[in-house]
Amino acid sequence: MSHVFYRQPKHHYPIAVRGEGIEIVDRDGNRYLDASGGAAVSCLGHDHPRVIEAIQAQVARLAYAHTSFFTSEPAEALADHLIERAPAGLDRVYFVSGGSEAVEAALKMARQYFVEIGQPQRTRFIARRQSYHGNTLGALAVGGNPWRRHQFEPLLIDVAHVSPCYAYREQGADETSEAYVARLADQLDQTIQELGPEAVIAFVAEPVVGATMGAVPPVPGYFRAVREICDRHGMLLILDEVMCGMGRTGTLFACEQEEDVRPDLVTIAKGLGAGYQPIGATLASRAIYEAIVAGSGFFQHGHTYMAHPTACAAGLAVQQTIVEEQLLGRVRQQGARLHELLLERFGGHEHVGDVRGRGLFLGLELVADRASKRPFAPARRLHARIKSEALARGLMVYAMGGTIDGQRGDHILLAPPFIVTDAALETIVERLAAAIDAALATVAQAAA
Ligand SMILES: Cc1ncc(COP(=O)(O)O)c(C=O)c1O
Repeated sequence: MSHVFYRQPKHHYPIAVRGEGIEIVDRDGNRYLDASGGAAVSCLGHDHPRVIEAIQAQVARLAYAHTSFFTSEPAEALADHLIERAPAGLDRVYFVSGGSEAVEAALKMARQYFVEIGQPQRTRFIARRQSYHGNTLGALAVGGNPWRRHQFEPLLIDVAHVSPCYAYREQGADETSEAYVARLADQLDQTIQELGPEAVIAFVAEPVVGATMGAVPPVPGYFRAVREICDRHGMLLILDEVMCGMGRTGTLFACEQEEDVRPDLVTIAKGLGAGYQPIGATLASRAIYEAIVAGSGFFQHGHTYMAHPTACAAGLAVQQTIVEEQLLGRVRQQGARLHELLLERFGGHEHVGDVRGRGLFLGLELVADRASKRPFAPARRLHARIKSEALARGLMVYAMGGTIDGQRGDHILLAPPFIVTDAALETIVERLAAAIDAALATVAQAAA
């Protein structure tokens, strides 16, 4: 009998014992091709020698030193590496242990910034429906997925949520991208007016929405409009790149692909350490850092394991590998190849309504009817059936339900490692197609 408190206590989990390239091997010798990088984490596969060596060397030298006494060489080097490549204006890196912690730190930095500059009346955040920013209480509060929030709602800070930028379902058939952006911008502006412009701290958004919607990129000009609104009201822009950042979409920061967008705070995790160590970070603008230095001189936050030297050494090795093996170009190339394969295979599939995404961050949205975009009944749990049919065929995909409103809709997110070969891409699409058809057959049986 196990004493592990599992995510889903009634589920039977195979015991993973080894990673080989882009596969995970379980104790019975079954192999699973990792087409989701776990949850878009394992960008270098599971046994990259350079990263393993860097971790071993760091542990042998110095595993851990508390940040109230010391900084460390890997933390300094990794911060330099990131800031050299970060969007203009970002100047400091606050290292934590994962995505939710990075979001919590960003929310508190944003709040403290306004306290430091004499605007303590700013207390409100605005975020988007159907976003995911993590599961700790602050991150969950800015997140906009009703199912994840539901039972914790009474514990959450009051955050206003506006519409996501979700062209497949929410852009009108006769609406141009410009008109759609203008409509979303008006809604954001209206929400700010309702809260009182002097009361808002920041707008929080994922540049490409991952877990809750399945790789939904913004329409052109959306983030430029958002930035203009934030500037007009003296608010900050927090971009959550925990899933879509660190090369996943083909540029190190996903927001590099948006014109004229200067985030004040950016959160990263997942691909930062590629799963070799738990690490996340919040990147802050010079203005935010300097306001804290010139004010109280102390960011009132912190965790025991922040800027963990071994985690930073892993992150540094991962990021250096991305540069040296020219993996951003590879993400663009293999991402385009995978997108093409998915369109070939599913472009005419009667139950795949949309194929979308950027780089090696791609999503399929499943529909009962393509013309009306009607989703499958949530009780069918199509996404869960696809996940288990895929696993039975040795394929890991990130399947989720509630795509549309936290209840209705199913999508599959694909985020294979950056080192994925052409042959593996073909295997992914083959196995996925078989899994989708098998899952649809069981849905049809259940409905009969
Ligand atoms: C955009 C985004 N933000 C935050 C998080 C939370 O990260 P973590 O699970 O590492 O706490 C996630 C996790 O999926 C995410 O996708």
